[in-house]
Amino acid sequence: MEKKIAVILGDGIGPEVTRQSIRVLDAVAKQFGHVFHYSYALMGADAIDKTGSPLPDETIETCLNSDAILFGAIGHPKYDNDPNAKVRPEQGLLMLRKSLQLFANIRPVTTYASLQHLSPLKPKILEGINCVIFRELTGGIYFGNKTLSEDGNTASDDCIYTKGEIERIAHLAFRAAQQRRKKLTLVDKANVLETSRLWRKVVQEMAAQYPDVSVDFLFVDNAAMQLIINPRQFDVILTENMFGDILSDEASVITGSLGLLPSASIGNGGALFEPIHGSYPQAAGKDIANPLGSVLSAAMMLDHFGLTVEAAKVRAAAQWTLDSGFVTKDIDPVNFYFTSTIGELICDFVQDKIHTELH
Ligand code: IPM
Ligand code: MN
Repeated sequence: MEKKIAVILGDGIGPEVTRQSIRVLDAVAKQFGHVFHYSYALMGADAIDKTGSPLPDETIETCLNSDAILFGAIGHPKYDNDPNAKVRPEQGLLMLRKSLQLFANIRPVTTYASLQHLSPLKPKILEGINCVIFRELTGGIYFGNKTLSEDGNTASDDCIYTKGEIERIAHLAFRAAQQRRKKLTLVDKANVLETSRLWRKVVQEMAAQYPDVSVDFLFVDNAAMQLIINPRQFDVILTENMFGDILSDEASVITGSLGLLPSASIGNGGALFEPIHGSYPQAAGKDIANPLGSVLSAAMMLDHFGLTVEAAKVRAAAQWTLDSGFVTKDIDPVNFYFTSTIGELICDFVQDKIHTELH
């Protein structure tokens, strides 16, 4: 198989973790006889420094001409505490999601037995967690009209959703539930927000088309609590943009490290794969960041290409590093391995150069 991949290294640790994924994709290509072509493009603080724009036109062009996009991370501290900044790195990612209509962000939450001790939750609560968050990605309060009054004392962000925007992601979530444990939980704030009441109505109506899926509804404050006290109850969580952003960070740390969670953003044709973590500027360039969030995102990309055996092999490799104690500093601050070493080990595993019985 031959595929064109747009690579956006981005900011902070983005470049170093994404480079490991490229090595892993190259190892997959060699091992299974595929050809991946990479085109590099700029976005975020990196793009602002080099071009003045967080999302240069060329980047959109490169992405449109590719079969998938692999993206690292975005953000730089110099913008975070400057409320007057006119351009922000994050605008690049938001504009890219919007222009490619990547409306569904899929964030699977996987736990690893060997990392149980790192979870803030007790082992008996952790057992059997297996859920996936379907986060709406191109609507809601992120994209509504924003205002700031002339005196600078009043600000607003509109939250807007249309029936069509809700339906298209809900169909994907229902179908995913059919392939899984057949449970869908809509998370909203329907006791307060009009948009949430629309979500609830649309999802209630759609439920009739998926009689094999049981549907329940949770207010977001309750859902945040339930994720901590009884995460096992969740199978597919469907939610709007901002609630999904918040809940997925919360869900990620119950697995032991934010550095482990991958994501896929899909929509009308395009597909972007990125770890859910941020740019972690304090670690940039130190070769200490966890590459697994990115490598597992690359595995989701392989699945998207229909290369499911290859994807499973990459996941097995990641699992093997964790089980063997080949972990980065976020997981073991004393006996840790470098980002690039983990990347190399995963490549070796993928190419059958590791004889696991020796370990
Ligand atoms: C994420 C990030 C982004 C978001 C930021 C960087 C704009 O937190 O992908 O979860 O809020 O969507
Ligand atoms: Mn986030």
